[in-house]
Amino acid sequence: MRELNGKVAVVTGGGSGIGRALALAFADEGMDVAIGDIETEPAERVADEVRAKGRRAVAVACDVTSAASVRALAAATREALGGAHVVCNNAGVVAGKPSAELSDADWGWVLDVDLHGVVNGLQAFLPALVAQGEGHVVNTGSIAGLVPLAAPNVIAYTAAKYGVVGITETLHEELRPHGVGASVLCPGVVNTRIGESARNRPAAAGGPPTTAEPPIQPPASGEMPRIIGANVQEPDVIARHVVAAVRNNDLYVVTHPETREAVEARFAAILAAYDRLDAGG
Ligand SMILES: NC(=O)c1ccc[n+]([C@@H]2O[C@H](COP(=O)([O-])OP(=O)(O)OC[C@H]3O[C@@H](n4cnc5c(N)ncnc54)[C@H](O)[C@@H]3O)[C@@H](O)[C@H]2O)c1
Repeated sequence: MRELNGKVAVVTGGGSGIGRALALAFADEGMDVAIGDIETEPAERVADEVRAKGRRAVAVACDVTSAASVRALAAATREALGGAHVVCNNAGVVAGKPSAELSDADWGWVLDVDLHGVVNGLQAFLPALVAQGEGHVVNTGSIAGLVPLAAPNVIAYTAAKYGVVGITETLHEELRPHGVGASVLCPGVVNTRIGESARNRPAAAGGPPTTAEPPIQPPASGEMPRIIGANVQEPDVIARHVVAAVRNNDLYVVTHPETREAVEARFAAILAAYDRLDAGG
């Protein structure tokens, strides 16, 4: 979508971190913005920040795990701003437990928010984007959707983010003839509140922490530091990459140069398996 000025963006998880930065970056491009978040007060504050930039904004209480709630976000966007053009399925959480300790409810929570939340966003917004023949979907994946981080605490997150990458790769091809683009955002570490995801953990998965839980940290040694390094980026930098990708209909939005080596290593390992096949065993 080359022309963003005067158009409408929707951002789930728009009350904090990358989502907030996306909302503000789109406002800087002259877009009106709908901010959906399970945390309503932060979403209201971001809507005020968008209005302070001279654009219209609406904050909507939205739980992306509920199809009805995301459809209500689409309806509220239509009513307040006249319909969406750029849809950012961005809300996400991580459950900080080793794989063997993850409960069914932990798995369910992470897959519901990080994968099904994207599906609910597509179901709610895609028909209108295709019908109007103009629009762009941005799904927030992660470097954890491109390479296995081989670190504790991320297995459910990894499952969801690989799914988000696959969904977006499929959409990018399918939607092109309809005038709708698709991008998947795959950052390394960004300075946000993702490490405090448990603040929104539902009762079925144990609820929010009653005492301060230590934030999720990468392990001090092993694969993860090699992959994600110490390069913690700020959300506004990430958002600028996304705006450029929307304009150019770039499928992959990578933001951390040091993650390249791990992506190359993954595909080299897959290609080596083909080499063994060609070599007869
Ligand atoms: N921070 C990182 O290092 C990093 C790296 C790669 C990808 N990401 C992805 O970026 C996205 C945004 O996360 P962030 O890092 O800005 O974290 P964040 O915690 O600062 O923001 C996430 C937002 O999602 C909202 N949210 C949580 N559950 C929700 C639900 N059920 N329905 C609606 N909103 C909900 C939260 O209230 C919050 O406003 C996520 O998809 C995350 O996986 C983050």
